[in-house]
Amino acid sequence: MITMKDIIKEGHPTLRMVAKEVTLPISSEEKQLGEDMLQFLKNSQDPEIAEEYSLRAGVGLAAPQLDISKRMIAVHIPGIEEGTDEPIISTVMVNPKIISHSVQSACLTEGEGCLSVDREVPGYVPRHSRITLTYFDLTGEAHKIRLKNYPAIVIQHEIDHINGIMFYDHINQEQPFKIDDDVKIIS
Ligand code: NI
Repeated sequence: MITMKDIIKEGHPTLRMVAKEVTLPISSEEKQLGEDMLQFLKNSQDPEIAEEYSLRAGVGLAAPQLDISKRMIAVHIPGIEEGTDEPIISTVMVNPKIISHSVQSACLTEGEGCLSVDREVPGYVPRHSRITLTYFDLTGEAHKIRLKNYPAIVIQHEIDHINGIMFYDHINQEQPFKIDDDVKIIS
């Protein structure tokens, strides 16, 4: 099982590399990796397991954060509307690719955090508010989905990881909370 000791931290060179495409068919090792990544996120959101293993809660994880430079990400976003147990999205994406996006930008009111960053980095992180992406799941099936707002932002954060980009690269250095008037702020 993946725990915090498996997650590399900012300053590690792998986090700045452009990760390699996964060649299809997906190998059994890659399948296992994807399953372990998704399980980590579920564990990290389970209060008892998280406490037992000292896991920091996360909604997304990218393979490079485990020092594996491959284009694989996992996301597990719990349902936040009306107490539903159904996650909004819970999947592993292999070779995810944003094929189109809105002109409209959006950012989270509380900024962003990262399991590879053990400090608060305040500031708005402008991203596309809507994206269309393609990816393969762990069975090798191709998908094309549209996402908006929070899930779209999480996916963009994770896709950044497979391109060697950290969330704070997007923050205005001089004025972290200065953004254009047309950027939607999501709470
Ligand atoms: Ni991150």
